[in-house]
Amino acid sequence: MSDISEFNKSANAGTDREHEVQLGLLEALCQAVREGRDAQSVALNLAQLRSYSEAHFASEELLMRLKSYEDYATHVEDHERMLDALRDIADDHALGKSALVAGNVENVLEFIQWHIATRDRKFADMVRSSK
Ligand SMILES: [Fe+2]
Repeated sequence: MSDISEFNKSANAGTDREHEVQLGLLEALCQAVREGRDAQSVALNLAQLRSYSEAHFASEELLMRLKSYEDYATHVEDHERMLDALRDIADDHALGKSALVAGNVENVLEFIQWHIATRDRKFADMVRSSK
């Protein structure tokens, strides 16, 4: 196996692991909101998810640039949309609007699952076959 195909395989495995962590953090946040945990716990879940998501998206975007990925702009728009949604949720939470937070975290979970299953999958397929 060539060095490039080893790199591609390892890059995809790394991205898969990051998705698992990101979804784990998001599911933990959804659960904390559903169970009505205290505001400080929810704020901590949110902060962890936002930090991790920023780092994960930056690493994915770097790999897309490295691979001169043709759908880079569309893909990055999704990332920005998710980060904006998480920022709005954090703002609502800070203002005590818990009813809005509950519905919106479920929407973000749905959107991220869709993003991983479609746009991230498409990019992973491209990475796998790239030289
Ligand atoms: Fe992505």
